[in-house]
Amino acid sequence: MTSKDKIVARARTAVVRRMDPLAAKRAATLAERRNAGIAAAPEVAAALDATAAIAVRDLAHRVRTGATDLHDQAALAQLVEAYLTHHPADTLPHGVAQAVARSFEGLWQPVGEPVSEPPPFIRDVIRDQFHRLYYHVSKRTWKDTWYRGVRTYKCPTDMWIYMELIDELMPGLVIETGTFRGGSALYIADRLETIGAGNVVTVDVNEPPKPPQHPRLTYFTGSSTDPAIVAEIAAMIPQGSPVLVILDSDHSRDHVYAELEAYAPLVPIGSYLIVEDTNVNGHPAAPDFGPGPMEAMWDFMATDPGFEVDARCERYFLTQNPSGYLKRVR
Ligand SMILES: C[S@@+](CC[C@H](N)C(=O)[O-])C[C@H]1O[C@@H](n2cnc3c(N)ncnc32)[C@H](O)[C@@H]1O
Repeated sequence: MTSKDKIVARARTAVVRRMDPLAAKRAATLAERRNAGIAAAPEVAAALDATAAIAVRDLAHRVRTGATDLHDQAALAQLVEAYLTHHPADTLPHGVAQAVARSFEGLWQPVGEPVSEPPPFIRDVIRDQFHRLYYHVSKRTWKDTWYRGVRTYKCPTDMWIYMELIDELMPGLVIETGTFRGGSALYIADRLETIGAGNVVTVDVNEPPKPPQHPRLTYFTGSSTDPAIVAEIAAMIPQGSPVLVILDSDHSRDHVYAELEAYAPLVPIGSYLIVEDTNVNGHPAAPDFGPGPMEAMWDFMATDPGFEVDARCERYFLTQNPSGYLKRVR
């Protein structure tokens, strides 16, 4: 019997005996490691996926037969989460989804009394599931978000954080890579106008069809990593002023890494560099994206100890930039 067979056999036995906490723990560990970008050995990953799939099937059976009295709701939630890291959500039987929703309620309000915050694991599951809902129903969320009539691919909770950072930093220059229609650049220009300081520069390989105009806003056309463009932008930074850099152009790992190398040196201590869309490649959205901003950020942070993740910028739970708000601390 291979190790995979052994784990699957154990999972099957566990299902017969209702729920095996060890199987649940293993499946949850796999989910956590995936979320952290750590790959498990293929046979272990396959076995754990099978564990989660079997548990979900078992759960479907229990829902069908009315035996939904689950003795360990946390283990259930962990198994379903593990299952969803590798299976499309629409393969989760409807009855199971309802049972899971009910079990979340039970966990959050264990004695019928609202508590201030759910347990961390449940909180993270709810956050990630809502994130996936928000991200994957994109036509009514981030692809239908507008600022003063101009489209922007931003999440409103992130836009609010940008406003707070601008108020706090009072940057002399905000540098945005990836203009798209110019909605985010216009938003930033307006925020700078309200504090009466600073300018914003935005660079894109494509010129926006109707670039919104603002006295504090400058457009560049070209690649964000073109050394000539980087040098021109660097020259626009008022001496000694705080800087806010927002990387939101080509989201492949290699391009973002090159942007980090180009723009991180422009960020003084106390200022911020935001790596956008770290949520793709399964963090927790778009699992098939491939190495992207999160992977670039990890690789960069391993070589440059000057930045720290500012988790406070993620306090609204929903952010398209998980671990992407970097503050220069040294
Ligand atoms: C996600 S969109 C930007 C969204 C915009 N910041 C907003 O929030 O509305 C990405 C943009 O990056 C641009 N882009 C792709 N590769 C680029 C590169 N090498 N340099 C600069 N921009 C690039 C694309 O043309 C696209 O408009």
